[in-house]
Amino acid sequence: MSSSPISILSQTDFNGDPLDEELLQRTFRQLMDEHGYVLMCNVPDSFDQVKFCRGLGGFVPNYTGAVVGDVRPEPGMDDVYHAGNTRPLTPHSEGYDFTVLPPRYIALWCVTPASGPGGETTLADTAPWVAELDERERELLEGTEFEWKTTEGVNRLGLDLHTKHPVLEQHADGMIVRFSCNNLVRADDDEVVPLQERWKENFYRDQISIDYHPNDMLVWDNWRLLHARNAFSDRSRHLRRIQIAN
Ligand SMILES: [Fe+2]
Repeated sequence: MSSSPISILSQTDFNGDPLDEELLQRTFRQLMDEHGYVLMCNVPDSFDQVKFCRGLGGFVPNYTGAVVGDVRPEPGMDDVYHAGNTRPLTPHSEGYDFTVLPPRYIALWCVTPASGPGGETTLADTAPWVAELDERERELLEGTEFEWKTTEGVNRLGLDLHTKHPVLEQHADGMIVRFSCNNLVRADDDEVVPLQERWKENFYRDQISIDYHPNDMLVWDNWRLLHARNAFSDRSRHLRRIQIAN
């Protein structure tokens, strides 16, 4: 199950003219506060994505050090769990393997969409799931320093990251949610397992699905929303990616 996104911002107005820059920023902020994500459409080739992202906060480099990362199938990476292949990605937040705060926003924009089925980025809002936790579950998620590791694909880049963080962390600017289906280190009988399973089910129940057109740009609040990806077959699919600090 998945539904269409509703938080969509057109960079052109009803006349087809570019939206005033201040109005674009204001509407972006309103939509982001309300929904936790914004999909920008009708984006001209001249749009400066890096400049727009700079307006949201400081940059957090990708694993390779590149500030603007490329998300596309990479040679020799098809056998591991990794964004740089054509396989599905399970629901997760970004940056649970950083010792510092996870990036606040993730921006992805489309250079070349996947032709044929698949390749959608999927998103779901954790805020209602956090709100329905009972006291014991909340204590577990806020009070336990869980161990996190990095993905196989990132390991292969030569990085072996291990961190300790709670799943839920209160911060002056909002609740931070960290989540992974496969990189939260725990025993099979750990009491976090049923919660992890429930959130995974919630994700596939609530997810919205982003089917990219060229130049579309998706930005989401990585403290609040989880993301995943559907598998695809077109190896020319190419997105670019920026991580932005709080
Ligand atoms: Fe990701």
